[in-house]
Amino acid sequence: MGQKEFLDMMNFRHACKLFDTNRKISEDDFKYILEAARLSPSSFGMEPWRFLVIENQKIKEDLKPLCWNQNQITTCSHLVIIKTDNKALKDRDYILKMFKRRGLDEESTKAYIKRYENFLKNQNISCWSAKQCYIAAANMMSAAAFIGIDSCPIEGFDKDEVQKYLKVDGKNIEVVLILAFGYRVKNPSKKQRLSLEEIVERIK
Ligand SMILES: Cc1cc2nc3c(=O)[nH]c(=O)nc-3n(C[C@H](O)[C@H](O)[C@H](O)COP(=O)(O)O)c2cc1C
Repeated sequence: MGQKEFLDMMNFRHACKLFDTNRKISEDDFKYILEAARLSPSSFGMEPWRFLVIENQKIKEDLKPLCWNQNQITTCSHLVIIKTDNKALKDRDYILKMFKRRGLDEESTKAYIKRYENFLKNQNISCWSAKQCYIAAANMMSAAAFIGIDSCPIEGFDKDEVQKYLKVDGKNIEVVLILAFGYRVKNPSKKQRLSLEEIVERIK
């Protein structure tokens, strides 16, 4: 893929407010979007993200009022609730599994785990794991755009209510972000962005 194709994809992606309810994303295309999430980088390779994919219309209707009544929730083809597994990040077995798979010798694995555990002590785990989820979310939206599928990231929701509805405790497992995927009904307005001069400083 050349530079132009990548930027075309970035320009194609927009926060789609209304999806075409007559169009459904195919299973293959949706798997492709999920694969982009799975391949995303995460700090220490801990992959704290968990994805709940909702196609069920009744559940979308139930969620809409908990999500500022945004139309994306009910018009999209697939709704993805991104959760973090905060519990796993502190779980000895999970930590071992994630570090052992690197195939390092026992001493290096131990050293890595120690570094991880020290790092974790100084983190707000909820914030830290959410950051990883946002990386996966961005990759999912980019992958979708690359194959002509629209998306909208949604932070506009009542977290407590959504967690209650989905029976998520909000501590061990936490809802971080919602992504809606589908096909646009109309073209978006022109992209508004600050200029590079406004956002970039350089030291040569
Ligand atoms: C983390 C995050 C949360 C967002 N939440 C919402 C939302 O709840 N509803 C919405 O319509 N757009 C939401 N947006 C979309 C932004 O408003 C949008 O990305 C921004 O205005 C730039 O427009 P563009 O994405 O169309 O280029 C969110 C974007 C991000 C990154």
